Amino acid sequence: MANVSLRKLNIVLGGKPIIRDLDLCVEPGEFLVLLGPSGCGKSTLLHSIAGLVDSDSGAIEIGGRDMTDADPSERGIGMVFQSYALYPTMTVEDNMSFGLRIAGTPKAEIRRRVDRAAAMLQLDALLRRKPAQLSGGQRQRVAIGRALVREAQVFLFDEPLSNLDAKLRAELRRELKLLHQTLGSTMIYVTHDQVEAMTLASRIVVMHGGEIQQIGTPLDVYERPANRFVAGFLGAPAMAFIDGALDAQGRFSADGFSVVPTVESRPAAQAAVLGVRPEHVEIRAGGDLTGEVTLVEPMGNHQVVWMRCGAAALASLVHDARRFAPGERVAFAIDATRVSLFDPASGNRL
Ligand SMILES: Nc1ncnc2c1ncn2[C@@H]1O[C@H](COP(=O)(O)OP(=O)(O)OP(=O)(O)O)[C@@H](O)[C@H]1O
Ligand SMILES: [Mg+2]
Repeated sequence: MANVSLRKLNIVLGGKPIIRDLDLCVEPGEFLVLLGPSGCGKSTLLHSIAGLVDSDSGAIEIGGRDMTDADPSERGIGMVFQSYALYPTMTVEDNMSFGLRIAGTPKAEIRRRVDRAAAMLQLDALLRRKPAQLSGGQRQRVAIGRALVREAQVFLFDEPLSNLDAKLRAELRRELKLLHQTLGSTMIYVTHDQVEAMTLASRIVVMHGGEIQQIGTPLDVYERPANRFVAGFLGAPAMAFIDGALDAQGRFSADGFSVVPTVESRPAAQAAVLGVRPEHVEIRAGGDLTGEVTLVEPMGNHQVVWMRCGAAALASLVHDARRFAPGERVAFAIDATRVSLFDPASGNRL
C-alpha cells in the first residue's frame, strides 16, 4: 500500500495545457476514481503517474518517494489499459508472466505470482490458451492479471471495462471491487461511467477541462455537488435545473413553480438555479405542486415520469404500478431538504 501525491502538476501537450495546477493526495489503500467527460485529461493524468507522459512542472510522489522524473519501471506501478494489448502469439500464462521474465524474476517466484493472480481472476483453467481463444471479459481479466503479478504498490486502471457489454461490465466491476477488498492495494481508476465511479470509489475526483471540480465520497459528490457541472454529470436521469430567484425569506420561485428549500447555507434575495433529482420528486395526492405529464419511460423495476410545471421540466421516479398518460395533470411534492441551489453566474453551489 502506498500513497500517491500530486502537487501543482501541469502538463502541456501539443502547445495546449491539458492538466492545470492539479493537486491530489491519494491515500494508501484507497480506491480513487477519476471521473469526467471525454477529453478532460483523465488518461493524461494517469499516464503521468505511470511515467508514460512527462509533466511540465509540479511533483509526483509515490509511496513517500519523489518519482517526478523516475523511469516507469522504478515507480512500483501496475497498469491496465482500455485496449487489452495482449501478445496474440503467447499463451495466457506467458502474457501474464512476460514482464517478470524480462525483469529476470526467478522461475519459482513467477510460478507463485501467476498462480495466485490466476486463482483470484478465475483464469486457472485458461492458462494454456491464446488470447484469440478467449472472450472479451476473459481477455480483460488476463490484462488485469498481468498487472497483478507485478505485486505493485499502486494499480492504475484506464477504463478497463469500456469494451465489454453491459452485463459483463457489471460482473467484472464487482470482481474488481472484491479484488480491491482482498488486496487492499492503492488503486486509481479512470472512467467516464458514473455507475462505475459511484459503485467502486472510496472517493471520486470529478474532472473537467484538466481541472478538478470536486473530490469526495460518492455520496458527498452525489448529494452535495460543488457546482452545476458535477450536479449534471452524476445521476441518471440527470438533475433538473430550474432558473428562478430566492426572496428575502428564502422561498424559491420560478414561472409557475415555487418551493422553500431547506438547505444549510440559507441564501436569500438573489437569482438562483434550483437543482432537483428525480428521486426527490414524488407524485402523490395532496402534493403542493401540479404538473402535466409529458412522457413515461418504463424501466422494469420502476418508471420515469416526465412532467412540465410552469417553467420547470422535471422527472419523477415511480416505484409502483400506477399508470400515467401524457397530458394528465398530477399533484406532486419535492423533498425540499434534498435540493441543491446554484449561483446562476458562476454555477457554484450556494
Ligand atoms: N499527445 C498529445 N498531443 C496533443 N494533445 C493531446 C495528446 N494526448 C492527448 N491530447 C489532448 O489532451 C486532452 C486530454 O486527453 P486525454 O486522453 O487525457 O482525455 P481523457 O479524459 O482520457 O478522454 P477519454 O475519456 O476520451 O479517454 C484531449 O483534448 C486530447 O486531445
Ligand atoms: Mg482516456
